[in-house]
Amino acid sequence: MSHVLSAVAWPYANGPRHLGHVAGFGVPSDVFSRYMRMAGHDVLMVSGTDEHGTPILVAADKEGVSAQELADRNNRLICEDLVALGVSYDLFTRTTTANHYEVAQQMFLAVHRNGYMVERTTESAISPSTGRTLPDRYIEGTCPICGYTEARGDQCDSCGNQLDPTDLVDPRSRINGETPRFVQTQHFFLDLPALAEALGEWLDEREATGLWRPNVIRFSRNILEDIRPRAMTRDIDWGIPVPLEGWRDDPGKRLYVWFDAVIGYLSASVEWARRTGDPDAWRRWWNVGPDGQAPLSYYFMGKDNITFHSQIWPAELLGHNGRGDRGGEPGPYGELTLPTEVVSSEFLTMEGRAFSSSRGVVIYVHEVLARYQPDALRYFLSAAAPENQDSDFSWPAFVERTNNELVAGWGNLVSRTAGMIARYFGQVPPAGPLEPVDERILAAVRGGFDTVGRLIGTHRQKAALAEAMRLVGEVNAYVSTTEPFKLKGEDQRDRLGTVLHVLAQAVTDLNTQLSPFLPHSSNAVHAALGGEGLFMPMPRIEEVRDLDEPGRPPYPVITGDYSAMPRWESRPVAVGAIVEKPAPIFTKLDPAVADDERRRLGLPVAEQPDEPGEAV
Ligand code: MF3
Ligand code: ZN
Repeated sequence: MSHVLSAVAWPYANGPRHLGHVAGFGVPSDVFSRYMRMAGHDVLMVSGTDEHGTPILVAADKEGVSAQELADRNNRLICEDLVALGVSYDLFTRTTTANHYEVAQQMFLAVHRNGYMVERTTESAISPSTGRTLPDRYIEGTCPICGYTEARGDQCDSCGNQLDPTDLVDPRSRINGETPRFVQTQHFFLDLPALAEALGEWLDEREATGLWRPNVIRFSRNILEDIRPRAMTRDIDWGIPVPLEGWRDDPGKRLYVWFDAVIGYLSASVEWARRTGDPDAWRRWWNVGPDGQAPLSYYFMGKDNITFHSQIWPAELLGHNGRGDRGGEPGPYGELTLPTEVVSSEFLTMEGRAFSSSRGVVIYVHEVLARYQPDALRYFLSAAAPENQDSDFSWPAFVERTNNELVAGWGNLVSRTAGMIARYFGQVPPAGPLEPVDERILAAVRGGFDTVGRLIGTHRQKAALAEAMRLVGEVNAYVSTTEPFKLKGEDQRDRLGTVLHVLAQAVTDLNTQLSPFLPHSSNAVHAALGGEGLFMPMPRIEEVRDLDEPGRPPYPVITGDYSAMPRWESRPVAVGAIVEKPAPIFTKLDPAVADDERRRLGLPVAEQPDEPGEAV
């Protein structure tokens, strides 16, 4: 048993989140965390909304509200989406809490004290027409590394490298196309070159495990080649003040949004501990324990976040720990553990195109959850996950997978099993002597605890789900072989009872194995077979007050009590449990749904004979 930190990327609060986001960080992190808890590990799952930085400021200006108001609204929407999807955070908070400000400033000071945060004069872009600072992401130009002509001043979307605006060839303002004027300004830079050796050693050690996805390790190695100091402060008035004399009170200088956002993993752990009444409890997920055991930490995100999790965040941790070329002492949080694994997904496209809120090519999480079952979405995003390469969400594929796999495969097996038990016995019958065919199916399904579990534990969720669904297929074949519905004679009643008992056992075990993917319906399956109470604990929203500034308006957090998590093992079915005629677990979708949804998006639909003018 280990302490396992599930560190989930913090959704940016400039708007509601779309399917591409939750495919990258939401569903995979929840499948993993639920499984690890079931396997007996002590999991702490944290995240929150990322609320600083230019895009939020710009969106707020455009609407004529304050940045905080805009973040408040989106924080609430994002919480609602994630709780509806069933993501089992121990704490989902936000970066505008007083606790986060304190932890981020303490981290900055520790890194600074150890000599890894150095002040430098640098160039900052000004708009010649307005005289205002032009934020990095509002400058575009040609990427000096890959030649992409629409790279932004903070990052190139084509090669994924971090950039500074002065790196761009032919820089121009994205707002009005003018060429920015660069003026001198003071900033703090994270001295990455002084941490490069330590970062390299950490990557070597991680690569040796063979567990990181090849794309992720390759990318992380590449960016180590071109390592240089990065500015961790910005000329902006929305963000966390720089906690040093002469800076603290300067309204125009703030910590860089990415510097503070990644610290959220630590600050949310601290907030969680403080809220449980054991303020030091977070240390079990961050410091080596008294038994000498290091906690494990898994970071879930989309691929555009890799650089911040395999370079910036580990560098901040090393700087805090005093583990670079300049030495130093661990800061106030003690020796902090570096990521065990950066579990990054590739991108999900939508109907063959990149998701883009600005171009309206987007499907929001709340829209899907308003019309479809959360587990249908979780199933699709897991089965068609962009694990090692980009994958596509399309409405026809969603309808097809829901109907053919979820409804006709798993849902049908559950309904047949519960239906026959209800009809013939009204309760789970005892098993008589088992025949080889019974032994075989029970053993095959029990084997899933090993195979499916190992695959989820090593982030091969697609293969894990495919294996569980293959077992569902085997059990459906067992029904065809044993034909319980034909065992009508009085002398066949014992055999009928045995087959239905075996089926109930197989469905129970498969339900356990599918439950990390399908937590909502695992409760329905559990109830359909006469199970009592809730099988799978679910997250909830709680309205809380800021721990340090209770006078602020309350805000929602996601939390939950997962102590009653079922074990990842076969549990014997309860003979005699009352089973009633089941209601369908999954909703079969009308194939017309795909066309309706495509029309809603303004996409072409297949020819409709009676409405010839409709297709675009
Ligand atoms: N807000 C970022 C995004 O949406 C992710 C931040 S992850 C964090 O891409 F760790 F930095 F918070
Ligand atoms: Zn590039």
